[in-house]
Amino acid sequence: MSIVRVVFWLRLATLIGLCLPALDLAWRWYSDDLGARPVTEATHITGDWAIVFLLCSLALTPARSVYDWMPLVQIRRRVGVAAALYAGLHFIIYVADQKWDLVVVALEIVKRFYLTIGFVALLVLAALAITSTNGWQRRLRRNWKRLHWLVYPAAVLAILHFFLQSKANVGEATVAAGLFAWLMIWRWMPAALRTRWVGLLLLAVGATLAALAFELMWYGLVNNVDPIRILKADIDPDLAPRPTLKVLLAGLVVMLLAGLQRLAILFKRLWTKRYIQGTIPMS
Ligand code: HEM
Repeated sequence: MSIVRVVFWLRLATLIGLCLPALDLAWRWYSDDLGARPVTEATHITGDWAIVFLLCSLALTPARSVYDWMPLVQIRRRVGVAAALYAGLHFIIYVADQKWDLVVVALEIVKRFYLTIGFVALLVLAALAITSTNGWQRRLRRNWKRLHWLVYPAAVLAILHFFLQSKANVGEATVAAGLFAWLMIWRWMPAALRTRWVGLLLLAVGATLAALAFELMWYGLVNNVDPIRILKADIDPDLAPRPTLKVLLAGLVVMLLAGLQRLAILFKRLWTKRYIQGTIPMS
């Protein structure tokens, strides 16, 4: 298949994938399948997808580099815009939950810290989505890169918002923070290490330790839980899979996929060599 066709199908599949959660939510809303508190459930679902797509958009550059597959950069913009749209929908559902009373919404945003930082993250994501077009890229020139660097502080604020609203159980937020740590370590890592086994292993271990540190800090500082209890819970098989284990598994899956891809390339090369040796008569 030509590269143009690959990019076409990849873009189409991405678009469908990005729309599916919204369609599923609309269907569940229509068929009254969102439980006893449908608005709260919808707020959670859209918030979760906003974070998922935000992390996916940040993961595309490392994925392109690790798997050496250029077409992935072609979908980065739409995944980032989808993250902003899901965050916008999340906000609109919240406003609907406040009976569209914008004064109450504004007061809540000012009063509650987790909403204040969610709002700042939303403003940044909206600005990045609006300026993501080629026209804006041309107009802003070098400042475009500087502006779009703000996606990292926005992601930090969004993950902090996730932690703060999670109350007692910060499991999912810890996974998000661990995956974000993987992405940040990858960026800070020397370029030569980023695609090598040792680099990928360091990333898996580093992200797991970062997730553990977030978990210990959060439960220790906010809930006054003894760190030893958290460590015991993390190795208790009855409580598996714990957030730290999920982050470790994600890091190992990245390595496994890279391994499978490299094996496939090796087999293809060997097969081609044998095929050529078998078909071209040697003089
Ligand atoms: C003005 C902006 C925002 C408002 C008013 C807002 C509001 C809320 C509210 C009310 C909740 C549920 C809290 C609860 O049930 O007690 C929530 C959860 C959440 N929000 Fe936001 N949010 C905003 C921005 C964002 C942004 C920008 C993101 C991500 C990019 C985000 C991601 C999340 C996530 C992941 C959750 C948790 C979902 C879950 O627990 O399953 N929010 N937000």
